[in-house]
Amino acid sequence: MNIPIAKTVFTDSEFEKIIIPLKTGWVVQGPFVREFEQKWCNYTGIKNSVAVSNCTTALHLSLSALGIGPGDEVIVPSFTWVATANAVEYNGAKAVLCDIDLDTFNIDVLNLQKLITKKTKAIIPVHLFGLSAEMNEINKIANENNIFIIEDAACGFGSRYFDKHVGSFGATGCFSFHPRKAITTGEGGMITTNNDDLAAKLRSMRDHGASVSDHQRHLGNKPYLLPDFPYLGYNYRMTDIQASIGSSQMERANKIHEERVKIADMYDNLINEISWLQKPFRNKNYTHGFQSYVCLFNPEKIKNNTESVNAQRNKFMEFLQNKGISTRPGTHSVHMLSYYKSKYGYKNTDYINSYIAASCSIAFPLFPGLKEDEFNYIAETLKNYNF
Ligand SMILES: Cc1ncc(COP(=O)(O)O)c(C=O)c1O
Repeated sequence: MNIPIAKTVFTDSEFEKIIIPLKTGWVVQGPFVREFEQKWCNYTGIKNSVAVSNCTTALHLSLSALGIGPGDEVIVPSFTWVATANAVEYNGAKAVLCDIDLDTFNIDVLNLQKLITKKTKAIIPVHLFGLSAEMNEINKIANENNIFIIEDAACGFGSRYFDKHVGSFGATGCFSFHPRKAITTGEGGMITTNNDDLAAKLRSMRDHGASVSDHQRHLGNKPYLLPDFPYLGYNYRMTDIQASIGSSQMERANKIHEERVKIADMYDNLINEISWLQKPFRNKNYTHGFQSYVCLFNPEKIKNNTESVNAQRNKFMEFLQNKGISTRPGTHSVHMLSYYKSKYGYKNTDYINSYIAASCSIAFPLFPGLKEDEFNYIAETLKNYNF
C-alpha cells in the first residue's frame, strides 16, 4: 500500500473545459474567472467573490485594501500556516500572535481580548482544517473595538457556522485552491465580501490597480486606450486556465464536501476505539469542511510531557510511513519558526497550546476516492499499534 495524505482528483469535466481557454487563446483573467466567481458566490451565499493567485495574496490584498500598514497590529493565531502571519508582515504591520484552544485548534477567544491595543486594526481568525472559528465571540470583540475581521478560510470550503458559510462574517474571507485543499486549481485563491465597494477595490487592486480589466477593455468600444490606475495594486490575477478547473469542480461542490465528511465519519468511528488519539472537534452548530482530519496524539499525557509525546508521535509517524501510510503534523506554529523566533525572540513555550499542537498533532490521509481497502488497512494498522 502507498496511501498519500491528499490526492488531487480531476475528472472529464475539467479535461473538457480546460481546452476552451487554450483554444480561444484568452488565458488570463477573463470569462472563466467570472464564471468561477459566480459559482463561488452561489455556493457560499456571499455577495461578491474575487479570484486571485492564491490565499496568501488574498490575505495580503485584503490587508492592503483595508489600509493596514506600518505601526498597525493584526492579531493572528500562533498555530497556523506561516502565510497568515507573513501577509501581515509584508505590509510593515506586526502579526501579534494569539494562542489557540487545544480542543478546536482555533484561536482562543479568551486570550484574544487581552491582546487588543490602540494599534490593533484587524483580527485574522483561521478556520483551521475546515472548522469555523468562534465567529460570534470574535465579531463581538471586533465590533466593540472597531477593528476589521479578515477570515483566513484557506481550509474553509464547506465550513459553516450556524449554517452560514465561512468567509461571510468578516470584511473579507480568503480561500485557497492549493492541491491539499478540497477545491484545487493548482495554485489559486478567492476573496469573498458582502461589501460591494470593497469588492470593486479588490478587483482593481488584484490587477495592478486598473480601473478596467483587460478583458472588459478588449470587449469595450475603445480597446486601444489604457485605463487609469487609481490604486497601488499588484499582479494577483488568476488565469482563465485555472478558473476553468475551479469552475468544473464547483459543479460537484456538494459531492466533494459530502465525500470528505463521509471519510471523516469513518475515522471518527475508528478513533472511538483508540484511546490515545483525540478526535477533531464536532458540534451541531459547526459544519466541518474536513480539509484535513487532525488528531492530537496521546492527549492525556500531553500537558507536562510535550517533548516525550512529540517523540512518540514522530515514532508513530515513521512507523506509518514505513507501512505506506502518509501522515503530517496538523500544521506548524509561527512562533517556532526561525524567522519569527529571531525577529521577536519567541520561546517555544510562549504559546503553550500552539507548541503542543505543532509537536503532537497528526493528520491522516483524507481525499475523495480513498478506497475501502485502503481505509481498512489504515484502521487495522492503527488498531494494532502499541507504543
Ligand atoms: C491556514 C492557511 N492560511 C493560508 C494558506 C496559504 O494558502 P496558499 O498556499 O493558497 O497561498 C494556507 C495554505 O496551506 C493555510 O493552510
